[in-house]
Amino acid sequence: MSGFETLLYEKKDHIAYVTLNRPQALNVYNIQMRDDLYQVLGAIKDDSEVRVAIFKGAGEKAFCAGADLSEFLSAPSPVIARQARFGRDVWGLFLNIPQPLIAAVHGYVLGSGIEIALSCDIRIASEDAKFALPEVGLGILPAAGGTQTLPRAIGRARALEMLLANRRLSSEEAYAMGLVNQVVPKNKLLETAEEVARKIASFDPRAVRNAKQAVLRGLDLSLSEGLELERRLAMGLRGYKGGHEG
Ligand code: COA
Repeated sequence: MSGFETLLYEKKDHIAYVTLNRPQALNVYNIQMRDDLYQVLGAIKDDSEVRVAIFKGAGEKAFCAGADLSEFLSAPSPVIARQARFGRDVWGLFLNIPQPLIAAVHGYVLGSGIEIALSCDIRIASEDAKFALPEVGLGILPAAGGTQTLPRAIGRARALEMLLANRRLSSEEAYAMGLVNQVVPKNKLLETAEEVARKIASFDPRAVRNAKQAVLRGLDLSLSEGLELERRLAMGLRGYKGGHEG
């Protein structure tokens, strides 16, 4: 297991495990975590042994309770605070990871915590998960992709209610809105994420990567462009193993 200051990184049977590891501060996202995540994501991206990654939070209380307010709101000015946060494009890197990413979330999933989960492809929540985006109430924006990824996941009106009125969601509400794929008892959270991960890892990694790319890149395209992209990605596999027009 590799220890970063704010993360634990582990690899086993083609599955990478990234644990947000500041449990004493509810795993809040600080500049060190930004730098550590940047390194870990880069390592995952370049590691062909990793077929899927699971993101989780250490401790009982939280996946991640948002940005570290002691850093982000105490900087000399909001502009400097924002610059510090944007110094490394962790969120752009998340989008460019070819392997599927699974978020296994529990407890508080606030602000950057939701944004990390939304940067993953599949979200599994424990029954005790609580979701909210408190940023606007603090005079800032969730600028780690949240204003873009949340409406794509749950629709415009629901996303705006969370953003503008700090609407909080239970895990059941998050499931009903499509924010998470599954809700499971807390003691089954990791096990369930691992089951999904093992299934993904058992498939042909090129088919998995191309399917992910087709969906993610396709969402930014018109339908006809998306179909063209799908055709190219399917053809790319054909030389390898025989594509299939399903
Ligand atoms: N930034 C920095 N430290 C934070 C933090 C944050 N966003 N959220 C929690 N912590 C720290 C607390 O200061 C506390 O540290 P301490 O033990 O040294 O005093 C520790 O994490 C535990 O938090 P605590 O508030 O005691 O836990 P709780 O169970 O009573 O309350 C919350 C949990 C999540 C409701 C509460 O911590 C909270 O409202 N946090 C802020 C959430 C937020 O606004 N996030 C920012 C989004 S941009």
